[in-house]
Amino acid sequence: MEDNKIEEIVAIALSETESSDNSDQLQEIRNRYLSKKSELMSLMSNLGELSIEKRKEFGQKLNAAKAKISEVINAKQEELKKRELAARLAKEEIDISLPSYQTLPGGKNPFHVIIDEMTDIFLGMGFEVEDGPEVEQDLYNFELLNIPHDHPARDMQDTFYISDSLLLRTHTSPVQAHAMEKAQGKPVRIICPGKTYRRDDDDATHSHQFGQIEGLVIDKNINIGHLKATLELFAKKMFGEKREIRLRPSYFPFTEPSVEVDITCANCDGKGCSMCKGTGYIEVLGGGMVHPNVLKMNGYDPEEYSGFAFGIGIERVAILRYGIDDIRKFYQNDVRFLHQYRKKA
Ligand code: PHE
Repeated sequence: MEDNKIEEIVAIALSETESSDNSDQLQEIRNRYLSKKSELMSLMSNLGELSIEKRKEFGQKLNAAKAKISEVINAKQEELKKRELAARLAKEEIDISLPSYQTLPGGKNPFHVIIDEMTDIFLGMGFEVEDGPEVEQDLYNFELLNIPHDHPARDMQDTFYISDSLLLRTHTSPVQAHAMEKAQGKPVRIICPGKTYRRDDDDATHSHQFGQIEGLVIDKNINIGHLKATLELFAKKMFGEKREIRLRPSYFPFTEPSVEVDITCANCDGKGCSMCKGTGYIEVLGGGMVHPNVLKMNGYDPEEYSGFAFGIGIERVAILRYGIDDIRKFYQNDVRFLHQYRKKA
């Protein structure tokens, strides 16, 4: 009777195993038929009632039944594992013929692209590139440039003060003083591109942060013709051979005479359009002959040495070059804007 029971259990276990079609279900069958609490094991408790001989025989049958069920379940498990792996591979198959997600490489902001272009032009004329601090001493930003403490020109260049004598530089001109200090009375021919700051409105044409390229040349016999020729060459290289420049009298405390420099409008060739407000010219920089006081304060004898200096608005040049309509776009980090100026690799 008990023998029949064993065979019955084995038969059911084998048929259930045969029809199971996933690993979880198979695990459940394994638990049901082979764990200590299984029906098969519960038959063990009857062993005590049997004679020694019978007990041995019955025990062997039980073990054989267990081994059989276990073998069949194991075989089924192998089969299911293979099937499940094949199904997963089929589902996760990668179609290598599909185009990949596009990851765009980074690129330079047009602010830096234009600095590189401008720098190249001046390097070609024999200038060297200098650097200077953005957090600057009052001494360099104003005093050594002939703008004493009570000078009204300071009003036009209000800025962010860190302390009474430390501020965010309002122009790149303090690099003039640093360069002269470094040159120790010897000739100077440098440019310095960099960021500058002023208290200002933020609108399409103003920003509290903007860029300038400073230029300074000091040597014997330097005259305003050198300034004009340098800027003319720059304008033609930057905006095309047809461009012409115009010098208008202006005022800066650190240059005398001082000029404002306009370039014929690239949009209308100087005829007059909305971009140049009908004038045919667009203002791009300030410059002039280095003031004798500045030469003296920075260790040069104005009787022996003279020089010229200029400061070009970087965004101004980029705006003209690329036809950008809002200065804030340089700083907003909008990828749709930035990607247009990525240099092709
Ligand atoms: N630093 C002046 C400005 O920011 C420009 C300038 C530079 C003028 C050098 C003369 C010489 O307005």
